Amino acid sequence: MRLRLDKFLANKAFGSRKEVHALIKQGLVTVDSVVATKKDMAIQIPEQIIAVNGEVVDNRQQYYVKFNKPAGYVCAVEDNRHPTVMELLPPEFLTMGVVPVGRLDKDTEGLLLLSNDGVWAHRIINGKKHISKLYYIEYTGELTETGLERIKEGIVLGDGTVCKPANLELLEPGKAQITIEEGKYHQVKRMIGAAGGEVTYLKRLSVGPLTLRGIENLGDFTYLSEEDVEKL
Ligand code: URA
Repeated sequence: MRLRLDKFLANKAFGSRKEVHALIKQGLVTVDSVVATKKDMAIQIPEQIIAVNGEVVDNRQQYYVKFNKPAGYVCAVEDNRHPTVMELLPPEFLTMGVVPVGRLDKDTEGLLLLSNDGVWAHRIINGKKHISKLYYIEYTGELTETGLERIKEGIVLGDGTVCKPANLELLEPGKAQITIEEGKYHQVKRMIGAAGGEVTYLKRLSVGPLTLRGIENLGDFTYLSEEDVEKL
């Protein structure tokens, strides 16, 4: 891919075009170890190696990320009232157009995917292939026998929304795991609510074959391997 050097660096969050021009002027930017002198120099990515201050700039253009989301952050790029997950990730994610793929509620923790590949994101959110998502739940109240049956068979929520059959596993009193294939608004909380409980803690443990392995701590993120990207 052919790009202008200043655009490449601005996209990679090295500052505004003006700030990037200053870096180039100061002789801090190299292309294949040669100091760059022209801000509009054409570079070839990924073939050429760009460095700033002696540090090689990661030249990926497509981002596929898994993130262990902490509670307290909304899955949005911008929000007037709440902090967003983007604030916990490198600034270049914003300038490279990386966005959350689907949503977790503000108080939900766990596995969140992000990408700037709209086609891939669309396939995951709206694709025909059903991707199962596993959640760990803590709840208060009692899940009734009929409630549990209904979750298994496809529960109808208060507003008439029909959920597909889901697999709920009771772990111990007040704790459970559920696998769902959809991502309706507040789905797990509403399903548990319709079965007689109230969710007090929710964490997504997996999306399809992807788990929290390698990102065990809240706030951790990692890039997906090509294999993972294709698997989903
Ligand atoms: N279901 C919910 O209720 N909340 C989430 O964040 C995800 C699934």
